[in-house]
Amino acid sequence: MSSPDPVAVRATFTSVAPRYDLANHLLSGGIDFWWRRKLVQLAKSGPHEKILDLATGSGDVAMALRKGLPEKTEITGVDFCEPILEFAKRKRARNNLPVETNQFLVGDCLDLSFEDNSFDLITIAFGLRNLADRKKGLSEMWRVLKPGGRLLILEFSQPFFWFNPFYYFYLQGILPWLARFVTGDREAYLYLGSSISAFPNRAELCEELRSAGFSEVSANPLTFSVVALHQGRKKN
Ligand SMILES: C[S@@+](CC[C@H](N)C(=O)[O-])C[C@H]1O[C@@H](n2cnc3c(N)ncnc32)[C@H](O)[C@@H]1O
Repeated sequence: MSSPDPVAVRATFTSVAPRYDLANHLLSGGIDFWWRRKLVQLAKSGPHEKILDLATGSGDVAMALRKGLPEKTEITGVDFCEPILEFAKRKRARNNLPVETNQFLVGDCLDLSFEDNSFDLITIAFGLRNLADRKKGLSEMWRVLKPGGRLLILEFSQPFFWFNPFYYFYLQGILPWLARFVTGDREAYLYLGSSISAFPNRAELCEELRSAGFSEVSANPLTFSVVALHQGRKKN
């Protein structure tokens, strides 16, 4: 698979936006809640004055971080798909959260509008795989992190080899049809399968993080390594 085309990616998330959360929870059997909780657990070891949640989508990670972190922590969600951000803003309103410390901004992960050294923590969940240029994205993340700041990546990975046949049978044979039922968009979930199989494994992604300048790089497999939590730090 060639690099994701940003126009097609934006169109895909515009199309699935109204059903995005429901599809996530149903198609993962609800395990996505647990994956995000693991991310928040890691995020809790501060400092966390200013957090940037990239490719925030409908804001589930931003909301999970909000629940787990002190009220004064500023959480900024960024996504380049405006329609899906509307769903994040609705969640903010439903939870009566102040806009000042819970911003959702339209922006491109490949060209962030923030100054160098702005954030204590950057999170990106199921977003890195969708970037047209991962190297550029990682270098932007490094740039806007404060020295000593951390990057946490929650993303699909390559499962343990013995789990592969079951996983890819589900991903390519069953999931697109289920997804068509839930979202009406089978193509979007065919894209999901091919983007996952084209994504680097844990060791390869760790190497990409080191090449982007991150230190203390590690990867923690979750659910037979269907998903992995990677972290890296911008050295002081
Ligand atoms: C699978 S969703 C993940 C949403 C959310 N983080 C979650 O955990 O559910 C991927 C998101 O990445 C966004 N995205 C992809 N490329 C982007 C880019 N270059 N800049 C900003 N957002 C991007 C898409 O618009 C989409 O909302």
